[in-house]
Amino acid sequence: MDIQKVGVIGCGLMGSGIAQTAAMSGFPTVVREVSQPLLDKGLASIEKSLSKFVEKETVTAEQKAQALARLRPTLSLDDFADCDLVIEAIVENLERKRELFAELDKKVKPGAIFASNTSSLSITEMMTATQRTPRFLGLHFFNPVPIMKLVEVVKTVVTDQSVVETGLDFGRRLGKTPVLTSDRGGFIVNRLLVPYLLDSIRALEEGVGSIEDIDNGMKLGCGHPMGPLTLADFVGLDTTYHIAEILYREYREQRFAPPPLIKRMVLAGMLGRKSGKGFYDYSDPKNPKPNRFLTSNR
Ligand code: 3HC
Repeated sequence: MDIQKVGVIGCGLMGSGIAQTAAMSGFPTVVREVSQPLLDKGLASIEKSLSKFVEKETVTAEQKAQALARLRPTLSLDDFADCDLVIEAIVENLERKRELFAELDKKVKPGAIFASNTSSLSITEMMTATQRTPRFLGLHFFNPVPIMKLVEVVKTVVTDQSVVETGLDFGRRLGKTPVLTSDRGGFIVNRLLVPYLLDSIRALEEGVGSIEDIDNGMKLGCGHPMGPLTLADFVGLDTTYHIAEILYREYREQRFAPPPLIKRMVLAGMLGRKSGKGFYDYSDPKNPKPNRFLTSNR
């Protein structure tokens, strides 16, 4: 199936990145939020990211204007009726996603493909809220979406092979490398990444190294762009905690169990970069310092 028009539901961190990438790749793209202020915030982050590309001269001012012109912001699901592919990127709550897909199923043309950007919830449990189970798959992107080169294409036991092929092809048309995976908690990347992030927190709790030394160990010793504690802050400690809980429930394996420290930090409102404090203090965002509370209370 040839995808021509794309819909993205949710214009938060991931939704805005997906909508931007689709528009930059030439797709007319409808993007929806639940309120005007949230929509404006998402569009502002798209504008900022496109401006970064223009500054770096990877995109011209004209290409930026064309990408913005391909975006159609909306508050209504009615505007998705003629989309060929609708990608959901709302809050990670299974019931909310099921309700959304059930509503979309009535509004969007029957031939369209539905996809979820979920990081850890079951695609199978979402698809059963619709009448189009063979035309349902996961398309899992990585933050920051316009930069990261991967998309996980997630098939369920009933996803039509032609829909899988369309998902893989769509990933390539976005300039990403698609990898094919099956609907198991965490897919490929989070199944491997989350235990690693949790282990770095356990290492910190056990006094194996300081925040900076653990991060430098993996950055300089293994060539990772970010150390694990920086990455946990970047993903969001609430998100990391939430994914770990879901994976722990799915596999009942200790490696997915969130350590007490991350739970306490989330409860205390230390959510990582987005809240200004996590394993690092982002008061000066260009020069984060290890969180003094964690270092002085040990
Ligand atoms: N839009 C446009 N450009 C962006 C951007 C954005 N949103 N974010 C970063 N950039 C650009 C910068 O302008 C810069 O360009 P330059 O190299 O030409 O100067 C370049 O990207 C690098 O950015 P910075 O200099 O600010 O910082 P870094 O060199 O550290 O790169 C990074 C930032 C690309 C985020 C890099 O640190 C990285 O790859 N980190 C790992 C990210 C990662 O692992 N993401 C996956 C998280 S897991 C996930 O998303 C799954 C979910 O389910 C949890």
